[in-house]
Amino acid sequence: MTFVVPEEIEAYAAAHTTQAGAFLDELAAETRATLPSPQMLTGELEGRLLEFLVFLTGARRVLEIGTYSGYSALSMARVLPPDGTIDTLELEPKHAEFAAGWIDRTEWADRITIHVGPAERALERLPGPYDLVFIDADKSGYAGYYEAALERLEPRGLIVVDNVLWSGRVLEESDDETDDTRALREFNARVVADERVVCVMLTIRDGVTLIRRR
Ligand SMILES: C[S@@+](CC[C@H](N)C(=O)[O-])C[C@H]1O[C@@H](n2cnc3c(N)ncnc32)[C@H](O)[C@@H]1O
Repeated sequence: MTFVVPEEIEAYAAAHTTQAGAFLDELAAETRATLPSPQMLTGELEGRLLEFLVFLTGARRVLEIGTYSGYSALSMARVLPPDGTIDTLELEPKHAEFAAGWIDRTEWADRITIHVGPAERALERLPGPYDLVFIDADKSGYAGYYEAALERLEPRGLIVVDNVLWSGRVLEESDDETDDTRALREFNARVVADERVVCVMLTIRDGVTLIRRR
């Protein structure tokens, strides 16, 4: 993944953002050393953004689609109110097992539930409602996850969607016509035209869209 702002700006922004702390740093290092596709980690900047969003909204029930190594779930967990919970959905047993190992070492272990298997299937068993939904899994699934999130969203809830700029490949002049790129272009067009919602696309990391009900 290439960042959508110049690399030195990204590094400067990360350097002027509160550090994640030793535990999340270790988790990130272990992810990079042992799991495939470590670029999928949300990392320092976006982790702190998610933490801020959970804190600001006071979200109590959080749904995450795409656990990977647990970095984003743990970033959000540490600012949950005392009765807050996170349901996080992960297709790959290997990723789920890795995340569970780290989550179990924290004080939030009993508040984070990892649902292993296809997100579409898990969502059938999770009626919500949710205060905040973070969508960060397979790009071809985004449209379906978005509808599922809206159906389950509290009236003042927030949907956060990752990778919406896809290293700039969503731009019309890009000649990338892969399925994921097309899916993201269609997804972005659908959200901005959707009269049910208000959205803002942030150029942080690989692009993050915030969506709320109108
Ligand atoms: C970008 S990573 C998530 C990163 C994570 N949110 C973080 O910041 O650390 C995407 C994850 O979604 C998972 N995934 C892909 N397709 C999925 C599906 N259909 N259902 C559930 N999870 C899926 C992948 O296995 C991968 O672990």
